[in-house]
Amino acid sequence: MFLKNLSLTNYRNYKSLSLSFDGPIQLFIGNNAQGKTNVLESIYVLALAKSHRTPRDKELIAWEADYAAIRSDVLRRYGSVRLELQLTAKGKRAKINGMEQQKLSAYVGALNVVMFAPEDLSIVKGAPAQRRRFIDMEIGQVSPTYLYYLSNYNKVLQQRNQLLKDLAMKKSHSLEMLAIWNTQLADLAVKLLKKRFEFIRKLETWAREIHTGITDGRETLSLHYENSSPVTEELAAEQAVDVMLAAYEEVRDREIMRGSTLIGPHRDDFSLKVNGMDVQTYGSQGQQRTSALSIKLAEIELIKEEVGEYPVLLLDDVLSELDEHRQTLLLETIQDRVQTFVSTTGVEGLKHQVLQQASRFYVKEGSISGER
Ligand SMILES: Nc1ncnc2c1ncn2[C@@H]1O[C@H](COP(=O)(O)OP(=O)(O)O)[C@@H](O)[C@H]1O
Ligand SMILES: [Mg+2]
Repeated sequence: MFLKNLSLTNYRNYKSLSLSFDGPIQLFIGNNAQGKTNVLESIYVLALAKSHRTPRDKELIAWEADYAAIRSDVLRRYGSVRLELQLTAKGKRAKINGMEQQKLSAYVGALNVVMFAPEDLSIVKGAPAQRRRFIDMEIGQVSPTYLYYLSNYNKVLQQRNQLLKDLAMKKSHSLEMLAIWNTQLADLAVKLLKKRFEFIRKLETWAREIHTGITDGRETLSLHYENSSPVTEELAAEQAVDVMLAAYEEVRDREIMRGSTLIGPHRDDFSLKVNGMDVQTYGSQGQQRTSALSIKLAEIELIKEEVGEYPVLLLDDVLSELDEHRQTLLLETIQDRVQTFVSTTGVEGLKHQVLQQASRFYVKEGSISGER
């Protein structure tokens, strides 16, 4: 998929911006705090209806404005699609070809993106919540039903947690109600877990191959789903639900004492190993970086496999950080097939000829001038 253009209204420090793109690679060049990340972020938000930088949509709206809008014509295999996203303090509205989408889960997926930013090192180094967020966002991009199950799971989880607190405070004695929440939560948990197991397995297949390439065969990368519940990948859905229900029974007293749900997808994690060694704990800075890169490149291939088209790649301030070998590998992956938006403070670090020939946009104080 290719963005033919991008227009922003009141988005962060852009009052009004309108750009057209041709060629696979677009370079956004400028000093710090000028608006480079903002442009890349707006493309990410257009795709996922959520920022990678903040959970608060209000921050995306230019100060002193009451709404922000992002618009783009996206060329897909089957034709051109116009995507529009409007953000207000009250909420957001998404349109595909002028048709308002009632559910964001029906909108997300019209454009697929992979973002690689310095903070993505947190996939390797960060807290479990950051890896869960990564899993949820990435599966959600290619599976609207996953997003739907996830939002239901979170709703039931909240209600179950409230009941557990009430039971702890003796405000409620309803173990029947708890059994009802258990049934609903177990069913949703298993649906999420099935998708996550599959995602991690497929991501690993690609990431392993890519990582071996980057390290000239010196390192083997593996991914492991770290499960807080005893549900395993081999179990059929019905059995898995029974296993989950039995597990809730087992931890019930502790859950009531703590007033929260202690097992399930909201407590899970995944780990990365290089040659069998945990990268988060024992990996060098270089190994952690390479692992993060391998995962990002794997995502590109995974999305291609799932949706039949390459996603758009957003490289925020990371390209000049990579050595020449890694830059070359990255460029080999994307070639002409993946439209790529690159932000950088200067072009000196961009060694490859492909990059020297890319379209250039100069970013300064929320306005952009092009030059070819
Ligand atoms: N909601 C907003 N309204 C207006 N300006 C904003 C908003 N959010 C961020 N900015 C401004 O955007 C700039 C940062 O842009 P960013 O794209 O992160 O910079 P960089 O070029 O370093 O990537 C800062 O000057 C900041 O003040
Ligand atoms: Mg930036």
